[in-house]
Amino acid sequence: MTNIILCGGSGTRLWPISRTLMPKQFVKLFDDKSLFQLTVERNSKVCDSQFIVSNIEQYFLALDQLDELNKSNSKYLLEAIGRNTAPAIALACMALEKDEIVLVTPSDHLIKNELEYEIVLSQAKKLAHENNLVTFGITPTFAETGFGYIEADGIDVKAFHEKPDFETATLYFEAGNYYWNSGMFCFKAGIFLDELKKYSPNVYEYSLAAFNNSNKKNIIRIQHEDMLAIPEDSIDYAVMEKSDKVKVLPSDIDWSDVGSFDSLFEELPKDENNNTLNEKHISIDSKNNLIYGKDKYIATIDIEDMIVVDTGDALLISKKGSSQKVKEVVKEIKKTT
Ligand code: GDD
Ligand code: MG
Repeated sequence: MTNIILCGGSGTRLWPISRTLMPKQFVKLFDDKSLFQLTVERNSKVCDSQFIVSNIEQYFLALDQLDELNKSNSKYLLEAIGRNTAPAIALACMALEKDEIVLVTPSDHLIKNELEYEIVLSQAKKLAHENNLVTFGITPTFAETGFGYIEADGIDVKAFHEKPDFETATLYFEAGNYYWNSGMFCFKAGIFLDELKKYSPNVYEYSLAAFNNSNKKNIIRIQHEDMLAIPEDSIDYAVMEKSDKVKVLPSDIDWSDVGSFDSLFEELPKDENNNTLNEKHISIDSKNNLIYGKDKYIATIDIEDMIVVDTGDALLISKKGSSQKVKEVVKEIKKTT
């Protein structure tokens, strides 16, 4: 089984930690390892090889971080510009044998129950052998609008709904037979390509043309104009919402997409006052705070439920619960630069 690792996203909701040239997946957030490195370590236990699909600008970051893990013999596909996940996965699948089983994973998620993860993956592999497109369902804990929802009947999928509005997400959350889509997929490379061709022929045709025009070496480079020609689409809209081959495996794997500072707070170790552990934090009667910063002392007095992130050149101060709005900060900064 080949692990296709998608690294092309920019993770703007974790600004200022996550930047265009140092996106979230490569930042060393946990135990001096990045989410990308944790992904590689976790999946190399169950996959024979890694296939890194990223933007060309992230190539050296990925290479360096794989070197640190002594895993330098990966395959790469480098996109001149990103066109979202459907083309990224299609291009990688075109470089593989049709019958190869692939495990597609994001590079920026955390999975803490690895034992359960391995059990679910072995079930997924079996279903993928039988020509299914396997998704991994997470039991929702609130009406998140940033995820896909899988309407399930056992392991059969009645429908896949990508990123519903809040009212619809609330209905799904309350219904009981919906899972969050974890963003990981398992299938035969050829089956995914067949389904893409059937339901999103433009994405398929332009991806194929781009692939055929590439150097097709161990480090595959897709040209800028060829990438530009591919319609932008995610696997969720291009295939998962439309295919009747989709299955879902309920996955109790202690999963987080670490998609905001609020969810990062949940994952970081805390002190006795429920502040995140930080040698540079001087806490006077402060509790439940995320304090991130390595260089200067950060002192807080009588502060509760705050997010303070210092990266030297930028400082973010937010109330807990509002960290989704960081995206708006990034938009503002883009306007002024
Ligand atoms: N190579 C490459 N090229 N990778 C990409 C590109 C691209 O153009 N765009 C995104 N990625 C990578 C991101 O780095 C991330 O690892 C993964 O693909 C998923 O992309 P996101 O942009 O993070 O997707 P999302 O979070 O909005 O939604 C997906 O994940 C949710 C779970 O976290 C969907 O699959 C949802 O259905 C799902 O619930
Ligand atoms: Mg994501």
